[in-house]
Amino acid sequence: MHQMMMRLALHRLVPVIMGASGMTMDKNSSATPNAETDSGDLFNTAAGWVLFAAGLGLGLSIVSGKVFHGNDPQRPESLGYVIEVAEADAGDSGPTLAEVLNTVTAADGERVFAKCAACHSIDAGGANGVGPNLHGIMGAPVGKVGGYSYSSAMSTHGGNWGWDEMNDWLDNPRGYISGTKMGFAGLSKLEDRAAVAVYMNDNGSNIALPEFVPAEVVAEDDAEAEAEVDQNVAEGTSEQTAAAES
Ligand code: HEC
Repeated sequence: MHQMMMRLALHRLVPVIMGASGMTMDKNSSATPNAETDSGDLFNTAAGWVLFAAGLGLGLSIVSGKVFHGNDPQRPESLGYVIEVAEADAGDSGPTLAEVLNTVTAADGERVFAKCAACHSIDAGGANGVGPNLHGIMGAPVGKVGGYSYSSAMSTHGGNWGWDEMNDWLDNPRGYISGTKMGFAGLSKLEDRAAVAVYMNDNGSNIALPEFVPAEVVAEDDAEAEAEVDQNVAEGTSEQTAAAES
């Protein structure tokens, strides 16, 4: 396309340049050849070719400029290849348990609990099923619900159901308490584990949520950011107070 246009342009350009420089294409037309006119002709011819070459050069530079965009600011912002390096610790990326616990709702958790309801009741005084009744399980000792017959792995495990413990248990029950008889593979999403824990906490437990202050707000240190932190903390406190009162 460009080449064709260039050729067309040159066809028109050559006679124009030649005409302008007084260049003659037909040498035989000079009727009285003598030394002076000969050298004059030669000079004109040479000048014509120089002009032609200059025109050609200009044309080429215009065409190549169109093809290669040499002057356009199309440089990438950073030169070279970008090599993505996987984070050494996958736990560093994504939101923390504390952050997710402070964003999910008990209603989210109620939906997740549908997966547990086949084996667990949650209401106060509910019957033990395949698994123990889970009313008030958050903060309670592991494997101690009255009238339920646990595996020895769970009944001897010890400790209490805090947020971290519940998250790890629900992430991988058999990995967390090897030998458990809970026939449930676990919840792969942090959001689901957090939500169901918040829902269980709403059903007879009410232990305090881990405090969470957004990391990006902490990182900034202007007055605005500090005010925002204060507001967040105040909101968190009043929410917890409200929850405690209800
Ligand atoms: C297929 C049945 C089944 C399902 C589904 C199930 N569980 Fe269980 N769960 C059990 C059994 C059985 C145990 C007792 C395990 C043992 O004794 O080793 C148990 C124990 C537990 C405990 C420990 C209770 C205590 O007294 O310390 C918690 C907490 C728990 N389950 C939560 C859940 C949650 C939350 C879900 C849904 C996301 C769920 N389970 C789904 C069967 C189930």
